Amino acid sequence: MSTGNESRGAPSNDEVICRAGPSLALIKYWGKEVKGDNLPATPSLAVTLGGVYTETHATAVPGVPASAEIRDVMSVDGIVQDPARYAMFFDTLRHTLGIAPRFRASSVNSFPTSAGLASSSSGFAALAGACARAAGCEPSAMDLSAIARAGSASAARSVYGGFVLLPAGARRARQLCGPEHWPDLRIVVAVTHRSAKPVPSRRAMEETRASSPYYFSWIKESAELLPEALRALEAKDLELLGETARRSYSLMHGAILGAQPPLLYWLPATVAVIHACASMRAAGIGAWETIDAGPQVKILCLLKDVEAVVARVGSLGGGIQTLVCYPGPGLQYGPAPQ
Ligand code: PMV
Repeated sequence: MSTGNESRGAPSNDEVICRAGPSLALIKYWGKEVKGDNLPATPSLAVTLGGVYTETHATAVPGVPASAEIRDVMSVDGIVQDPARYAMFFDTLRHTLGIAPRFRASSVNSFPTSAGLASSSSGFAALAGACARAAGCEPSAMDLSAIARAGSASAARSVYGGFVLLPAGARRARQLCGPEHWPDLRIVVAVTHRSAKPVPSRRAMEETRASSPYYFSWIKESAELLPEALRALEAKDLELLGETARRSYSLMHGAILGAQPPLLYWLPATVAVIHACASMRAAGIGAWETIDAGPQVKILCLLKDVEAVVARVGSLGGGIQTLVCYPGPGLQYGPAPQ
């Protein structure tokens, strides 16, 4: 539905470039209220990462009536995507903005795709921004968040920079505070494996809901973790935030492991990084890990400890690479500065 707060111009052939950072959940979203919809069953609290991004180029195909048999075309890292995965997103985009055109879009990620680094969050957020502008629209961030959610619920968060909340059942996310709230927070991403994950989060979520005896406990516990995480964020209390984030990912993976068939996203290197974080904390280095639907580990720490964290993870060997990220901006337009 159009909200009337967008300025609507004519669709054009001009290509628009939009970038978005992945949304790293500290309190995780896992499970949908209704199958097939992207309304989250749990609240999620996330930080949008700076230092890594998806860059999307989009063009609106002008003058195409809504009924035309011309398809939207999307490619990611040069691979044309299954139109079915994008249909709800493009239909929601057109419906929300009250427009008709089809889109040609392509994205590249500056980090491994579909490997548990939240590429769908940055991907659908950048796609929403690029397509809306290519169609001559300037929707509000709230509308862009709702459009991005139709692709992937976590993408509703990536539209905003800094620290972002997506309440349970919400159609759109909202920014709690910008990246300037916590400028010395760092997120060290330990890339343990570069290939796509074996089971996409969409399917794994559904299987968890359908078969894990721990699913409803996960939903309940998750809601109870949120107030603690919000307090920690406000006070910039990394220990409290880190411990709450650890609890959230542990509960989520416990529920996933309880699905039938059981699903374990972790690799030996994932477990090695978890233990390395525990030994760093025991040695007085503030390093708290969190893990999404994949084998990568994201470590929360402060700027002053980054070198020690990167060195410790590097010392584990096994080809683990590290990327140092920070609280980043929301959608940005134009190519990345060289
Ligand atoms: O938005 P999706 O369908 O890519 O699912 C994201 C799920 C997690 O990354 C595991 C958690 C989250 O809140 O981002």
